[in-house]
Amino acid sequence: MIDSQNMLEAVGGLPGQVEEACRLAREAELPDKREIRNVVVAGLGGSAIGGDLLRGYAAGKLSVPVNVIRDYTLPQYVNDKTLLIATSYSGNTEETLSAFAEAERRGASIIVITTGGKLAEAARSLNVPAVIIPGGIAPRAATGFLFIPGVIILNRMGLVSGAEAEVSEAIEVLKDIKNEITNDVPLEKNQSKQVAGFLKDGIPVIWGASGTSEAAALRWKGQINENAKSPAYWNVFPELNHNEIVGFEAPKELLPKLRVVLLRDKNDHEQVKKRMEITKEIIEKAGAGVREVVSRGEGYIARVYSLIYPGDYASIYLALLNNIDPGPVKVIDYLKQALAR
Ligand code: PA5
Repeated sequence: MIDSQNMLEAVGGLPGQVEEACRLAREAELPDKREIRNVVVAGLGGSAIGGDLLRGYAAGKLSVPVNVIRDYTLPQYVNDKTLLIATSYSGNTEETLSAFAEAERRGASIIVITTGGKLAEAARSLNVPAVIIPGGIAPRAATGFLFIPGVIILNRMGLVSGAEAEVSEAIEVLKDIKNEITNDVPLEKNQSKQVAGFLKDGIPVIWGASGTSEAAALRWKGQINENAKSPAYWNVFPELNHNEIVGFEAPKELLPKLRVVLLRDKNDHEQVKKRMEITKEIIEKAGAGVREVVSRGEGYIARVYSLIYPGDYASIYLALLNNIDPGPVKVIDYLKQALAR
């Protein structure tokens, strides 16, 4: 078994990471107090997913929009009424640095979440508040550090309430799930190992639902790409019922390769629940495989993390089943180096 960067151990650290992230964000300096009309999270890859989670969290609570920008440039609406959260684990991602500089020029209220790098330096020299998180793991193994500070910051700024209780619930739910899916739990009782076996030799397709499990579906896809070095695709209900489902009329020999993981949440819209049942029947009849992962807990943070956590483990088990080292992401490193030359 090759796991040169101890990804299993890093992923296992999520409950403790959420706790620590909370503490760091409680102690951080806040952006200056002013009217906020929109929130923008700038970040890429493993850092951007923290923004997707924050967007999902804020959707039912915040009266202003939250958007995630994975780009060099910012939309025209970003101005001095914007709260910009610049998130980069390394602090050296060029797109995020460019978005940060643009937000500064436009007078946005800014806070940075990073381990260091050029982003921390820029924040320091411009007196921009920063949550400095611990380094030393892969960005995708640091979702606690990349999501939770945003929640606590919004809470401390008075933009949302009740965050601390939601975070505490999530920590308990994550600890329970960890005991069920960690590597010493055998296949017969371990949902993540079972899902990895189901995905092996297939093309993973992860489906969630808009507003509830959307960020979790995207996270599963990214984790399978980066940890298992496998193609993977994702989509959400109800949209996928209006296009992707038609693809299941494909020639019969193609469909058994598709392995669909359906992420289900009790807060899914009632019509979406019905759509999921009908869609399952359609794709099973067409010859594709389907498995379900069901969320736990009450608050958004517990529910979304309870969908993400089994996927994080499954993506690493899938790598190990295929004799692939889940740690290194050589292509991403190569691209960054080539662009810096
Ligand atoms: O998982 C990864 O390594 C990538 O997706 C990175 O998160 C992405 O390239 C951005 O880098 P950073 O998170 O350091 O800003």
